[in-house]
Amino acid sequence: MRLNGTYFTLITAMIVALLSLKSHLFCPMNTTLMIPSSISSIKGFCSHHHHNNVPKVNICDDFARNILPPATNISSTLCVDRNGCCNFTSVQSAINVVNDSSQMRTIIWINKGVYFEKVTIPKTKVNITLQGQGMESTAIVWNDTANSSGGTFYSASLSVFGANFIAKNISFMNVAPIAKPGDKGAQAVAIRVAGDQAAFWGCGFFGTQDTLHDDSGRHYFKECYIQGSIDFIFGDARSLYENCQLISMASPVPAGLKLINGAVTAHGRVSQDENTGFSFVNCNIGGTGRILLGRAWRPFSRVIFAFTSMTDIISPEGWNDFNDPLRDQTVYYGEYKCSGAGANQTLRAPYALKLNDTQAASFLNSSYVDGDQWLQPYS
Ligand SMILES: *[C@@H]1O[C@H](CO)[C@@H](O)[C@H](O)[C@H]1NC(C)=O
Ligand SMILES: *[C@@H]1O[C@H](CO)[C@@H](O)[C@H](O)[C@H]1NC(C)=O
Ligand SMILES: *[C@@H]1O[C@H](CO)[C@@H](O)[C@H](O)[C@H]1NC(C)=O
Ligand SMILES: *[C@@H]1O[C@H](CO)[C@@H](O)[C@H](O)[C@H]1NC(C)=O
Ligand SMILES: *[C@@H]1O[C@H](CO)[C@@H](O)[C@H](O)[C@H]1NC(C)=O
Ligand SMILES: *[C@@H]1O[C@H](CO)[C@@H](O)[C@H](O)[C@H]1NC(C)=O
Ligand SMILES: *[C@@H]1O[C@H](CO)[C@@H](O)[C@H](O)[C@H]1NC(C)=O
Ligand SMILES: *[C@@H]1O[C@H](CO)[C@@H](O)[C@H](O)[C@H]1NC(C)=O
Ligand SMILES: *[C@@H]1O[C@H](CO)[C@@H](O)[C@H](O)[C@H]1NC(C)=O
Ligand SMILES: *[C@@H]1O[C@H](CO)[C@@H](O)[C@H](O)[C@H]1NC(C)=O
Ligand SMILES: *[C@@H]1O[C@H](CO)[C@@H](O)[C@H](O)[C@H]1NC(C)=O
Repeated sequence: MRLNGTYFTLITAMIVALLSLKSHLFCPMNTTLMIPSSISSIKGFCSHHHHNNVPKVNICDDFARNILPPATNISSTLCVDRNGCCNFTSVQSAINVVNDSSQMRTIIWINKGVYFEKVTIPKTKVNITLQGQGMESTAIVWNDTANSSGGTFYSASLSVFGANFIAKNISFMNVAPIAKPGDKGAQAVAIRVAGDQAAFWGCGFFGTQDTLHDDSGRHYFKECYIQGSIDFIFGDARSLYENCQLISMASPVPAGLKLINGAVTAHGRVSQDENTGFSFVNCNIGGTGRILLGRAWRPFSRVIFAFTSMTDIISPEGWNDFNDPLRDQTVYYGEYKCSGAGANQTLRAPYALKLNDTQAASFLNSSYVDGDQWLQPYS
């Protein structure tokens, strides 16, 4: 999404959460992690430390074959390891061998490591699971921007068009340079989800502007970590986010300044006939900056927050009509039993709703995304 330069300031903070992963397990044992400043540095991403008197061990000796999910008559497993310890060294190469329209689930098991690749799951490849080893251990990372890819929609590090996609314990990142004030075309999506019936369990989404393109279809996110600055969850999907952390990377704003420099959501519902919207239940909002809960990217934008705690980074008005007062009549922005300094609704935009029990009910569980038709329990 394009930034209104006078209303928003661009973000200059570093990807703090990415840095905080530094001490974690992105590398095989006995290696230290260096944060890549660019993709070309990936070759030196992990540097090996061998203790002088410990003999050099084959890196695949640590490879835990026994934790690969066994094949069943309803699922098969493909294995990805960037060190070449199993059949595929890239995620895309595994996706490429999945049979079109497979009714069997294909579990793509991805070992620890950073996979520097731009990945696409085309519409023909359905029922794929990406199984990582933890959101701090396994990541798919690329660095396209709107400029470098021909538009925001094409900048994603992972694009999912196939239906029935599942991701577990893995992160998706866009590490393009953080936009400087006034930059255009710096939007950098980490993931685009355009397949119907997708579920994300324990996943991380890292970026700044436009991190999570929750584009279309019915989606479910549980216990995910989502980081960004401007419109960092945007699109026209119908999605339920449960127990997620929503972390703003917007620059800190000095106390007393009314400046707003970010927004959690920019939902893109176009008309009254569309059954789309974002529902956040039991989430936490924190981080830095002075941001909105949402702004009306399209006239019928629909977003609700329930049982969600919000720090004082949420600006008192909470919501914005994208500077189009006509949208005040058509957006649906609601809050229900939220807490924290940011949840004070006294000074909210006049069209923001304080939902009652009846209004909130349809948003609060997996029925909102027709989960009974497709959402499998986490196992
Ligand atoms: C890692 O280091 C430990 C002891 O420091 C050693 O026992 C182990 O074999 C090493 N593993 C690899 C893969 O080098
Ligand atoms: C992505 O990284 C590569 C390698 O470092 C660099 O050449 C390219 O310019 C970067 N792309 C963007 C959009 O920053
Ligand atoms: C898969 O195997 C189970 C028994 O292990 C059996 O009950 C089931 O009918 C099989 N499903 C298919 C689709 O073959
Ligand atoms: C590699 O693929 C072969 C043939 O499909 C399979 O038998 C083998 O188990 C795979 N190895 C690993 C480590 O996934
Ligand atoms: C694709 O289908 C063929 C034929 O049914 C089967 O032998 C093969 O294992 C399938 N490939 C994968 C990756 O499931
Ligand atoms: C595979 O996907 C189709 C539709 O894309 C769906 O009907 C079917 O239930 C899926 N199978 C599994 C095992 O998820
Ligand atoms: C996901 O990771 C958590 C810890 O990070 C672990 O407890 C859980 O078993 C993992 N689940 C799967 C399906 O990988
Ligand atoms: C994107 O491209 C436009 C036109 O070529 C250029 O003016 C702008 O500086 C570029 N933005 C970034 C972030 O590189
Ligand atoms: C909510 O905000 C209003 C206006 O700033 C203030 O008067 C009121 O004390 C706040 N309520 C709470 C519970 O903090
Ligand atoms: C909830 O709000 C709706 C819309 O304003 C109203 O029609 C309904 O009577 C309210 N229900 C309750 C239980 O207050
Ligand atoms: C979700 O909540 C609605 C309204 O309270 C209820 O009718 C429905 O049974 C619930 N669905 C599930 C899956 O719990």
